[in-house]
Amino acid sequence: MGACKLSMFSFLCLIIILVVVSGEESPQLVKDRISLLSFRSGIVLDPEGALESWNSSSNHVCHWTGVKCDNASDRVIQLDLSGLSLHGRISPILANLSSLLVLDLSRNFFEGHIPVELGYLFQLRQLSLSWNLLGGNIPEELGFLHQLVYLDLGSNRLAGDIPAPLFCNGSSSLEYMDLSNNSLTGKIPLKNECELSALRFLLLWSNRLVGRVPRALSKSTNLKWLDLESNMLTGELPSEIVRKMPKLQFLYLSYNDFVSHDGNTNLEPFFASLVNSSDLQELELAGNNLRGEIPPIVGNLSTNFVQIHLDENLLYGSIPPHISNLVNLTLLNLSSNLLNGTIPLELCRMGKLERVYLSNNSLSGEIPAALANISHLGLLDLSKNKLTGPIPDSFANLSQLRRLLLYENQLSGTIPPSLGQCVNLEILDLSRNTISGIIPSEVAGLKSLKLYLNLSSNHLHGPLPLELSKMDMVLAIDLSSNNLSGSIPPQLGSCIALEHLNLSGNVLEGLLPATIGQLPYLKELDVSSNQLSGNIPQSLEASPTLKHLNFSFNKFSGNTSNKGAFSSLTIDSFLGNEGLCGEIKGMPNCRRKHAHHSLVLPVLLSLFATTLLCIFAYPLALRSKFRRQMVIFNRGDLEDEDKETKDLKHPRISYRQLIEATGGFSASSLIGSGQFGHVYKGVLQDNTRIAVKVLDTKTAGEISGSFKRECQVLKRAKHRNLIKIITICSKPDFKALVLPLMSNGSLERHLYPSHGLNTGLDLIQLVSICNDVAEGVAYLHHYSPVRVVHCDLKPSNILLDEDMTALVTDFGIARLIKGADDSNPTDDSVSFSSTDGLLCGSVGYIAPEYGMGKRASTQGDVYSFGVLLLEIITGRRPTDVLFHEGSSLHGWIKSHYPHNVKPIVDQAVLRFAPSGMPVYCNKIWSDVILELIELGLICTQNNPSTRPSMLEVANEMGSLKQYLSSPPPLLIDEAYPKASA
Ligand SMILES: *[C@@H]1O[C@H](CO)[C@@H](O)[C@H](O)[C@H]1NC(C)=O
Ligand SMILES: *[C@@H]1O[C@H](CO)[C@@H](O)[C@H](O)[C@H]1NC(C)=O
Ligand SMILES: *[C@@H]1O[C@H](CO)[C@@H](O)[C@H](O)[C@H]1NC(C)=O
Repeated sequence: MGACKLSMFSFLCLIIILVVVSGEESPQLVKDRISLLSFRSGIVLDPEGALESWNSSSNHVCHWTGVKCDNASDRVIQLDLSGLSLHGRISPILANLSSLLVLDLSRNFFEGHIPVELGYLFQLRQLSLSWNLLGGNIPEELGFLHQLVYLDLGSNRLAGDIPAPLFCNGSSSLEYMDLSNNSLTGKIPLKNECELSALRFLLLWSNRLVGRVPRALSKSTNLKWLDLESNMLTGELPSEIVRKMPKLQFLYLSYNDFVSHDGNTNLEPFFASLVNSSDLQELELAGNNLRGEIPPIVGNLSTNFVQIHLDENLLYGSIPPHISNLVNLTLLNLSSNLLNGTIPLELCRMGKLERVYLSNNSLSGEIPAALANISHLGLLDLSKNKLTGPIPDSFANLSQLRRLLLYENQLSGTIPPSLGQCVNLEILDLSRNTISGIIPSEVAGLKSLKLYLNLSSNHLHGPLPLELSKMDMVLAIDLSSNNLSGSIPPQLGSCIALEHLNLSGNVLEGLLPATIGQLPYLKELDVSSNQLSGNIPQSLEASPTLKHLNFSFNKFSGNTSNKGAFSSLTIDSFLGNEGLCGEIKGMPNCRRKHAHHSLVLPVLLSLFATTLLCIFAYPLALRSKFRRQMVIFNRGDLEDEDKETKDLKHPRISYRQLIEATGGFSASSLIGSGQFGHVYKGVLQDNTRIAVKVLDTKTAGEISGSFKRECQVLKRAKHRNLIKIITICSKPDFKALVLPLMSNGSLERHLYPSHGLNTGLDLIQLVSICNDVAEGVAYLHHYSPVRVVHCDLKPSNILLDEDMTALVTDFGIARLIKGADDSNPTDDSVSFSSTDGLLCGSVGYIAPEYGMGKRASTQGDVYSFGVLLLEIITGRRPTDVLFHEGSSLHGWIKSHYPHNVKPIVDQAVLRFAPSGMPVYCNKIWSDVILELIELGLICTQNNPSTRPSMLEVANEMGSLKQYLSSPPPLLIDEAYPKASA
């Protein structure tokens, strides 16, 4: 009762306020204003602030967002709030806007039912509620809307039967009806006595409608679009109905249970009924189990035809040559039927064809050479037929051809070398034929092949052409089950993108090259049933990506480990190799156990490296006060990585979910902006807190490259100190990376807090953070499947999670280095992928050599890391005005080193010391800070070649961290003798 009184009171207040502030609004408008405000109270979230103008200030209601008034009647006549990401329910109070002509709430997040009261908006011409989350039934009352011209309820969660009054309300005005993409059941309720004579668009696709297409639809003689696809409609194809629709443009009946005439044997009557529809452009009848021949009358259809889909039916007989009358056709899909006979030559006259699918039929005869006359042809799929004869030489003319699928036929002859001229080819599949001869070098050198090359199960012989190494974009190569001979060229290691390589069932001999194991993305390798000999190269075992391996039935010999990529293999992968021994279950033990040197080697290497560092790089470091334990770079992280790659598949998060999660990318969710776009925070429905990095697509080309690179790096590089990707959302006009939200923000925020002077971080935390960064970058440089140069190391690209673990992020301008060849870490310069004109790095952090036209290098990252250390110690940004006059942060510190460096050290101790720090720490902290300064100076040396590697830096940081957490007792005694006394 109290609540009721209160709300009554506030309601009265509201009215009073309204009357006061909106002096010039008529009483009618004031009523509409109250209705709108009441409607607004049903909206719980307005992420874009779209309704901010709907306020009680003097703003006139007719000026509110989405509201339009009629001057004569002083009423609101239009409410258009489409695409504003509004969340909430649709208030029934809208029914009070009784003069409303247009109500458009589409593309929002409205939930709940469609209020029945909307059926009392008798003036309504347009009702659009599509692309919301509306559930329940469609209210019968909507059938009262006799003036309705446009009704769109598509893409919601509506269920139940379609109310009959919707189709039969005595109104002849309805022109557009879209109920598609819901869960509607029952029949299409258009009774014989009803008619929708003005109807031009009827879209009911993707529902669960049953029954026949109602006869009364034939009275809708103005229909242009009829889309009934993906329902459960039955009966004969509606020829009597479509015959009355001369204006039809799009007729979609695919994926229903329609049959043809005369007991599902005759398609002629249906095609005949379409002959007068001279505007018809697209006909889709796929997936209906239609039987019958394709009638010759198909050639009498409109020449405006652009697409015909008859796939996945039971059509038999031959392809009628008459189809070639449809000169404007770009897509012809007759695949997965029972068609026989030859491919009609006439087809080759259809010069506009772009995609031709004739696969999975019983077509015989030769492939017409004249198909090459179809100059726009981009896709030709003739697979799974009974075609014989050679592959026409003329295909060389198909300059647009991207996919050529001829597999599972009986093609013979050789592969025409001229196919090498199809420079846009992405997929070439000639497998399962009887093609002989060699693999022409021209075809092997098809650099354009992006997806796969499948020549398996033919009669090919001769060597593997060296030119195969040019396919640096191809994902899969399958040359299995041929008679290929000779050795496997090590140059195959240049097929850098390769994930699947199958060379099994040939007569290849010689060694398996180690370069194969170094292919950075290789997942599957099958070399079984050849005559390969020698040891299985170590690189395969070491590959972090390989999952499926088959070495069976060769002449391999030597010791086989069960480590790394081999740990999941069974004897099945090694059968029939007499000379193999080792630890795989079922394999004979090797007589003499070899020393296990996979761990010893890195230890030796890093010892060596550290010695080098001491000899060559440390002249700056005057003293090394304490001996540090060697800390081997944490290889445990690599094993973790193996576990993670198992579920490389990212969850699917739609654009819509991202909108929901970030409140429609609202300003309040914005947490950062940069050169490449904006970063928003958000919460997914399962409460995962995310950061969404939305790339600014306006800056086009560069961005898309940087987006791809960032995705590539993030997908492949997994390490405790590198940010992990949750998923990628990529549409042509929208590209975003979804990352976990790091609760402690960026290092930048901690180094330069907007309020107060203290960084809030102490030295232990800072050293730990720098150690994390060094390990993450060292992983990128030395252990990641594809080596990566980060290029933009700086505090804002270092994020801190809730435990203050640092994660390196922002690989937008990272460079991928081709071969991951650890044995030769200094020879980076030869292996860079081409740069694309992007400036590498940020001002202040860029290594000096970049200014001299040098390409990105790992040494450049070491430089940036050094700057970062010096920045942390001094609390000065490298971009500080102080350094602008020809000097740099590094130069400034160097000028104080070693004799005048004490004030800098002392100041840093003061800045980082937590209150109440024991006195003895002062000495230790001074030492560590001095060490950090020295390390920073070494890393920022002008000559890149004298800088340490990131691995050495990580070792240094690791020992500093260790030292801080447990200083040697001797030093404590020395610094704080009274404590031990
Ligand atoms: C009311 O709407 C006007 C017009 O959009 C806007 O300028 C003003 O800031 C709004 N006032 C409030 C309190 O939201
Ligand atoms: C092919 O389509 C174009 C565009 O729709 C049209 O102008 C042209 O007349 C058509 N060609 C024929 C032969 O009908
Ligand atoms: C095609 O199949 C039909 C039976 O469906 C058969 O009568 C006809 O001879 C076949 N034609 C060819 C060329 O194989």
